[in-house]
Amino acid sequence: MSLRSLLHIVLLLSAAAERNFLRGENYELQGFSRLLGFDQSSPELTRLFSEIDEGMKPIRHPTFSLERCSQMVEDVASAAGGGENFVHTGLFLPSAGGPAGWQDAQRKMRLGILSFLATQSNTSKLWFWTNVGNEFLQDSLRMFEEERFRGRVQLRHFEARSEFAQVVSNATESNALAHVYEAQTDVTSKSDLLRAVVLHNYGGFWMDTDVLLIRDLTPLAQEDFAYLGQDDFVNNAFMSTSKPRSAFMKSYLSLVLARHLSTNHFEYGPSVLTELCRKIQSSEMPSTFHVLPGCFFDGAWCGASAAVYWDDFFSKKASKAGASRGRPRAEWSALPEKPASQI
Ligand SMILES: *[C@@H]1O[C@H](CO)[C@@H](O)[C@H](O)[C@H]1NC(C)=O
Ligand SMILES: *[C@@H]1O[C@H](CO)[C@@H](O)[C@H](O)[C@H]1NC(C)=O
Repeated sequence: MSLRSLLHIVLLLSAAAERNFLRGENYELQGFSRLLGFDQSSPELTRLFSEIDEGMKPIRHPTFSLERCSQMVEDVASAAGGGENFVHTGLFLPSAGGPAGWQDAQRKMRLGILSFLATQSNTSKLWFWTNVGNEFLQDSLRMFEEERFRGRVQLRHFEARSEFAQVVSNATESNALAHVYEAQTDVTSKSDLLRAVVLHNYGGFWMDTDVLLIRDLTPLAQEDFAYLGQDDFVNNAFMSTSKPRSAFMKSYLSLVLARHLSTNHFEYGPSVLTELCRKIQSSEMPSTFHVLPGCFFDGAWCGASAAVYWDDFFSKKASKAGASRGRPRAEWSALPEKPASQI
């Protein structure tokens, strides 16, 4: 699979902060003056934001002790689930050669979707975005057309021009954004740009195709966030926005527009998120964008016992200890190791 695991952060922006850090850029997206609120935040997560934001100044590991971080995950995960979560994922397939030789490719492709179906309420939906009408992909996802999955999993073709046109009414700006996407040769950057515009236009969560969900996402829904992957790297393998057309996603795309066309692997994902985070932190403005600690998503980066490093996940055999991290919360207390801390 051509997608790498990505790094992310979450912040909340006030309208004033947005105007502040956009002034002086080459571009300023239109219609960008609304104040973001904490729409339907879970109180469990909201209570932790000031501690999390403070711990992320500056962005670096270790942010919190593993014990504290695990406790935060427990607190958040104890909130009520069952909400109508909206998750986006997607994949770019190389046109030349194709994935015919990839071992177990179809099964791997379905794994994340199955984890979505297993953990999210039956009113939640998942859109699988792709840029190609690829037969392999349609074959892989055919099982999700069954009646019992009807409407929950949809394959969506990504039309860059029409999606970017929804970001801003000024055609010069929306065409410039679409051009950054179309002229992009780095597949990771293409994927970063796709997720940014999709989250802007539709809201919801983004998960990479190599992310497995092991918990109901409801307690994290309708927030602007990414997470700390490694060191000072904001990971967007999993990210979320509070609502369609959120100030967070507008700020994100505005920063994309202000950059020169680049094929740097991280240019339009982690790098933009890190810049956004630094601007918000240095302006001392309240913000709706947060960078969640790594243990919310990937215990291996935080030294959690029994956590499987992401690179090993598909290439090594599962161990009993590793599998314990996916157990339902009620069973954790019976485990001899530290409680699992992944969501
Ligand atoms: C559209 O955006 C460009 C670039 O920011 C700007 O120069 C131009 O004046 C804008 N056009 C309108 C009609 O606002
Ligand atoms: C969805 O789940 C609820 C319980 O959470 C159940 O009552 C309902 O029948 C389910 N609907 C479908 C279509 O499976």
